[in-house]
Amino acid sequence: MTALAKPVVRVENISVNFGSIQALTDVSMEVFAGEVVALVGDNGAGKSTLIKTIAGVIQPDEGKIYIDGREAELKTPAAARRLGIETVYQDLALAPDLDMVGNLFLGREEVREGFWGRLGVLDEGKMREYAEDTIRRLRVPVHSSRQKVGSMSGGQRQSVAVARAIAWECKMVIMDEPTAALGVEECEKVLQLIRDIRNAGTAVLIISHNMTHVFEVADRVVVLRLGRKVAESDRKDTSMDQVVSWITGSSAQAELCSK
Ligand SMILES: Nc1ncnc2c1ncn2[C@@H]1O[C@H](COP(=O)(O)OP(=O)(O)OP(=O)(O)O)[C@@H](O)[C@H]1O
Ligand SMILES: [Mg+2]
Repeated sequence: MTALAKPVVRVENISVNFGSIQALTDVSMEVFAGEVVALVGDNGAGKSTLIKTIAGVIQPDEGKIYIDGREAELKTPAAARRLGIETVYQDLALAPDLDMVGNLFLGREEVREGFWGRLGVLDEGKMREYAEDTIRRLRVPVHSSRQKVGSMSGGQRQSVAVARAIAWECKMVIMDEPTAALGVEECEKVLQLIRDIRNAGTAVLIISHNMTHVFEVADRVVVLRLGRKVAESDRKDTSMDQVVSWITGSSAQAELCSK
């Protein structure tokens, strides 16, 4: 990343109110291609609200969002997806009765018109070939691509959700708590998947309460407290203790460490 690089996504002076609750106040941040940014903060700090504005789920009351340097109007999740922003939510929204291939293609027809045409509508063979290729490329830890998602472990399901998000050559993947409720081994696999996505040049924005995971995978950390950005630092320039004190506000004065 150089000083001249253009961020994949930049949010500028975003404010969001829910009635009398000011969930976000004047938040600006950016994510570059090929980096993992961790968005951290206490419960209610505004993390999910911020990613929902980037994912087109919530429209901010103030502020702008730029994708590849161009101002973007993200009025719906489909609009964000069309611009290359994919989001993996905590509930994952997978179809348990379908296998990986079915899940990879679920809901895509509304998003990428023409894609079905290119693959051949209902050409299951080509769909499976494409999906299996994606699964191999991502090293998703499943025995068979025909296994129903409902019978997979949490970590495997998380991997399928990530695979589904990034199978479409997106610019940025957003993940809300990708390792919550996973076992040690499954966490490791998901963290490795995140590194693989980053190494392929995709921008990654994750939310996590787990500082160990944040420090294992993030290149940069952005801290929200009570709806405001209170700190930002390259991971290598900070420590877990410092990030925790930024999150809780226990340091005398949270500082804005610029990159
Ligand atoms: N749909 C909503 N309606 C009203 N208030 C909301 C709504 N969504 C979020 N809020 C409020 O906005 C604030 C920020 O919430 P948000 O979900 O973004 O926090 P968070 O940082 O993701 O927290 P957590 O770590 O608990 O997931 C909170 O005070 C929350 O109660
Ligand atoms: Mg949240």
